[in-house]
Amino acid sequence: MNKVKVPNRPFGPFPTILAGADVMGKPNYVTVGACGVVSLQPVLYISLKSTHYTTIGVKENGFFSVNIPSADMVQKTDYCGVVSGKTTDKSKLFTAFYDELGKAPMISECPMNMLCKVIQRHAYI
Ligand SMILES: Cc1cc2nc3c(=O)[nH]c(=O)nc-3n(C[C@H](O)[C@H](O)[C@H](O)COP(=O)(O)O)c2cc1C
Repeated sequence: MNKVKVPNRPFGPFPTILAGADVMGKPNYVTVGACGVVSLQPVLYISLKSTHYTTIGVKENGFFSVNIPSADMVQKTDYCGVVSGKTTDKSKLFTAFYDELGKAPMISECPMNMLCKVIQRHAYI
């Protein structure tokens, strides 16, 4: 069999999640395919482009939420992945809730929510 050498590619499966962060005092949500488990400790990673609107809030607050959408949320999940908070207000798309820390909006409609504190950041060009 002929092998083809390609640049490093992460391999899945990856769940598609909605990450949430407050930006300029309002919830914003971004669709993220590159999310996964880092360790047996409760440590997750998300790979978020530096130019995304959500990234501003993650950097500012040091927190973000990971919300796993149900199948019936596919349209809104897709929408959050093609429309940016830079130009469109996505704050009212879902019912946001916060825990007592109040650091990042979580999505009531999603069956699973995780509030995540940023513990490490890697910036690549
Ligand atoms: C299915 C899907 C998966 C995506 N996965 C990622 C991802 O892993 N990382 C990322 O930075 N952007 C990803 N995107 C793109 C962002 O969701 C998209 O650019 C979004 O509009 C950015 O929103 P924001 O500017 O409001 O933060 C994905 C989009 C879709 C539709």
